[in-house]
Amino acid sequence: MGILRRGAIDSIVKYRLALGWYDHLIECTKDLDDIKILDVGGEAPTVTHLLKDKKIILHIMDLPEMCGLGKREYTEVKYFEDLRLVDTSYDIITNYASLMYMDSLEETLEIFQSCNPKYLVFGHVITTKEETYTTEQGKTPYRIYNMTDIIENLPNFELIEQKEYPINYDRLTSKLGLEVDTPLKCFNFYFRNKTI
Ligand SMILES: C[S@@+](CC[C@H](N)C(=O)[O-])C[C@H]1O[C@@H](n2cnc3c(N)ncnc32)[C@H](O)[C@@H]1O
Repeated sequence: MGILRRGAIDSIVKYRLALGWYDHLIECTKDLDDIKILDVGGEAPTVTHLLKDKKIILHIMDLPEMCGLGKREYTEVKYFEDLRLVDTSYDIITNYASLMYMDSLEETLEIFQSCNPKYLVFGHVITTKEETYTTEQGKTPYRIYNMTDIIENLPNFELIEQKEYPINYDRLTSKLGLEVDTPLKCFNFYFRNKTI
């Protein structure tokens, strides 16, 4: 397992920006200057690079191996191996292409909510109209969510915008060993805290 290197972040972020990956995060941070962000499954500080003109405190929660690599490469970031050990307060919690790997959606969203962020920004979440289910990517469990389960587990938050993000669905179903025509949608979306 490797980690995204510092020298590669600029081009990756530019490429993703052009594809609209970060539209919601840019929208949520436009009126904030000092921002404490938790990036779940964040790997490397792409978020800091994206929000160059802001003062960012970045915490990343990731797998132990990734945290080990990250701590050596990115000393400015605080890494956490366990979501239950993150700080109790953030301005923004985000996740890109990582929600599918979380062991428990309910516990994950309960922790997100308990940190009382202003915004929750989700990117590259694979969804189904059927019930939430778990498949596998290789031997790794991979969860496909019904949006209702996400919304219902965030009672303090209001879903503000949801956009389908076009990906290669044939490649995804093949990677997950699913039928080619399995109806999946990849969404980017964000919630605003109703209690603030
Ligand atoms: C597809 S990568 C996305 C990385 C990063 N969010 C980005 O946008 O470049 C998935 C990330 O989720 C992390 N991940 C996998 N399983 C995880 C888990 N159970 N808890 C937290 N992070 C996990 C991986 O280590 C990896 O960093």
